[in-house]
Amino acid sequence: MSKRILVTAALPYANGPVHLGHLLEHTQVDVFVRAHRMLGHDTIFLCADDTHGTPVEVNARKKGITPEQLVAQSYDEHVKDFKDFHIHHDHYGSTNSDTNRRYAEKFYAAAKAAGHIFSKDVEQMYDEKEQRFLPDRFVKGTCPFCATPDQYGDSCEKCGKTYDPTQLKDPKSALSGTTPVMKSSRNLFYDLPQLAGTLEAWLERPGSLQEEVRNFGRTWLKDGLQPWGISREGPYFGFEIPGEPNKFFYVWLDAPIGYVSATDEWCSKHNRHVQDYWKADSDAEVYHFIGKDILYFHILFWPALLHDVGYRKPNAVHAHGMLTANGEKLSKSRGTFINARTYLNHLPPELFRYYLCSKFSPRVEDLDLNFDDFIG
Ligand code: 2FM
Ligand code: ZN
Repeated sequence: MSKRILVTAALPYANGPVHLGHLLEHTQVDVFVRAHRMLGHDTIFLCADDTHGTPVEVNARKKGITPEQLVAQSYDEHVKDFKDFHIHHDHYGSTNSDTNRRYAEKFYAAAKAAGHIFSKDVEQMYDEKEQRFLPDRFVKGTCPFCATPDQYGDSCEKCGKTYDPTQLKDPKSALSGTTPVMKSSRNLFYDLPQLAGTLEAWLERPGSLQEEVRNFGRTWLKDGLQPWGISREGPYFGFEIPGEPNKFFYVWLDAPIGYVSATDEWCSKHNRHVQDYWKADSDAEVYHFIGKDILYFHILFWPALLHDVGYRKPNAVHAHGMLTANGEKLSKSRGTFINARTYLNHLPPELFRYYLCSKFSPRVEDLDLNFDDFIG
C-alpha cells in the first residue's frame, strides 16, 4: 500500500555556508527519500534555512548589511550548493517568513493556553555600551578552572569544562570589549517538567528512536527536566512575542516550527493540506533526520510543543554522528572544514555522495572522511 511520507533534514543556519557536514545529512535523507519513492510511496523532502538569533544579526552588522540581506544571500547560496550536490528538496523555506511567524504564534498561544508558559526575572550579563544582553558565546574571559584566557562564556576549549558566563574571570563583551554588568529582566519559560509523562510515553514508543538515543532521553528524564527559556530581550533578530513588547522568541523555539511552515508552503503549491501531515490522527509518516548534537531539541522540546498544539509527533527521529576527517573533528586550521562550494570547485559531487553511502549506518557513531580511503 502506498504511504504518504514527509521527511526533513535539520534546518541549516543562515550564518554560514553549507559544508561537508551538512552534506552527510542531506545525502542520507536524499537517498532515504529516493528509496521510498522507488517503493511507490508519496514522499516529500522538506527543509528551510534557520535564520534567527544573535549570530546572524552580529555577522550581518560586521558585513555592513541587514540581517534580512544576509539571510537572503545565505538562502541563495544554500539552495545552489544543495542543488549542485544533486540534493532534491521538494520545498526549501525560511524560518524568517510570514508562514513561520503565524505558526510560531500559534504554537506559543497553544502552550500558553495549556498553562505551560511562565515568566521569571533572570540576571544576565549586559553590555551597557551596546545596550543589549549578551548570549553566552558573546562573553569572553579567562577559564575559571584552568585559567586559559580568551574563552567563551559557556565552555573552555582547553580543558573542556562547561560553566556559566558569570564564572569567567575578567569577562569582556565580545561585541564592544567592555566589561559587562549584571542586569535583571523578565524572561519567559516553557515548563518542560510538566510534560515529563507525555515525553516518557513518546520516548518509549517502539520504533521512534535508535536505542542509544532513547537511552539519552531516559537519562535526561531521570535527571529531571528543567524549564526552557524561550524569550530573548531585544534587540534580537526574530519574531516579537505577542503581548510581550521587546521580547522575541528564542531562535530554537521557531526553528523546528519551520518543519510545519515548510509543509504548509509545499501543500499550498500542490493542492494538499498541511493537516494531512500534522493533525493528531494523520496517517502520513513523518521522519526527522538530525545530528546527535541537537537531540535534546528534537526528542524533548519539539514533541512537547507538538503535544500542546494538538499535532502528531514524528514517527521517528533519526540521529547520525558527526563527520570527522582522518579521525579528528573538522577543523579550519587543518584545512578539513570544507565548504560544499570548495569541494565542488575541485571534484564531482557523485564521489562524495558515493563515499558517504558506503559508510552510512543506522548507528549514531561519527562518520570518518579518511582522505587515503577516499582517494583509493
Ligand atoms: O543546529 C543547527 O544547525 C540548527 N540550525 C538546526 C535546526 S533544526 C530545526 F529544529 F530547525
Ligand atoms: Zn579551562
